[in-house]
Amino acid sequence: MDKQAVVSIKDLWAGYEADTVLEDVNFEMYQDDFVGLIGPNGGGKTTLIRVILGLLKPEKGTITVMGQQAARGRKHIGYVSQFQVEDKQFPISVWDVVAMGRLRPNPFHNFRLASHDKEAIETALEETGIADLRERTMNELSGGQRQRVYISRALATEPKILLLDEPTSSVDSQSSNQLYDLLAQLNDHIAILLISHDLTAISSNVKTIGCVNRRLVYEGNKELTPEMIEAGYGCPIDLIAHGVPHRVLPGHQYEDHHD
Ligand SMILES: Nc1ncnc2c1ncn2[C@@H]1O[C@H](COP(=O)(O)OP(=O)(O)OP(=O)(O)O)[C@@H](O)[C@H]1O
Ligand SMILES: [Mg+2]
Repeated sequence: MDKQAVVSIKDLWAGYEADTVLEDVNFEMYQDDFVGLIGPNGGGKTTLIRVILGLLKPEKGTITVMGQQAARGRKHIGYVSQFQVEDKQFPISVWDVVAMGRLRPNPFHNFRLASHDKEAIETALEETGIADLRERTMNELSGGQRQRVYISRALATEPKILLLDEPTSSVDSQSSNQLYDLLAQLNDHIAILLISHDLTAISSNVKTIGCVNRRLVYEGNKELTPEMIEAGYGCPIDLIAHGVPHRVLPGHQYEDHHD
C-alpha cells in the first residue's frame, strides 16, 4: 500500500487580496516526517501554515490534510503559533491553558471536560515534562516552561500532525535544545512541521529541511543545499559568514569561507 501523505499541497498559490505571497507550492509530508522550514521575514512561512490549517483559502491549487480538505483535516493538527496571547499577566493555571486544547464547541454547548479529556490533558503534561507545574499560574513560569505549556495545549488535541511557528524565538539555547529533544521524542508518533529562523538548531535537529521564500524549495533533503540558500536568501556567502556550521552544508566550495 502506498504511504498516504498527511499533508499534500499541489500547485498552490495563496496570498492576501491582490498580493500573492506563495507561488506554485508543491509539498508532501508523511506521518514519520520531521520537516524544518526556514526562510526570510515575510517569505510566507506563516501564510503557508494558515493555508495548511484551512484558515486561508488558496487562490489556486489544492491542499489536503489527512486526505481531507484542510478545514476538515484541521482537527488532526496541533498548532503552536508564532505569537501567543500574553497569558503572563493572568492568574490562569497551566492546567487551564492546556485544557483549552480540549474545549471544542459541541452540539450541547457544554464545555465540561469528560474523563477522556482529562486523560488527554494529563498525558500532554506528562509528555512535555511539566506535569508537576499543573497548578502553577502562567506568570510563575520561565519562557521555556511557558513554551511547553503551549505545546501541551497542542498535544491535548491528540494530533497526528504538530505545526510549530518559531517555537524557539523567545527561549535561550539550552531551552531550545531541550525543546528539540522533546520534539524528536514526539516525532515517534506525530508528524512535525517546524518553522524557524534558527538555522543552526533547525538543521541539526530535523530529519529534512526546506526553504520558503514565495516559492517552497523542498525535496526531502537532510541538509541545507546551496539551492535552498540561494532561493531563500539570495546570498550564500553572507549567510555562511553568520555561522551556519559545516555539517549543514554538503561538502562544496563555500567551506573555505569558514576558517
Ligand atoms: N493578514 C494579512 N493581510 C495582508 N498581508 C499579509 C497578512 N499577513 C501577512 N501578510 C503579508 O504576507 C507576506 C508573508 O507574511 P508571512 O507572515 O507569511 O511571513 P513569514 O515568512 O511568516 O515572516 P516572519 O519570518 O516575519 O514571521 C508579508 O509580506 C506580509 O506582510
Ligand atoms: Mg511568520
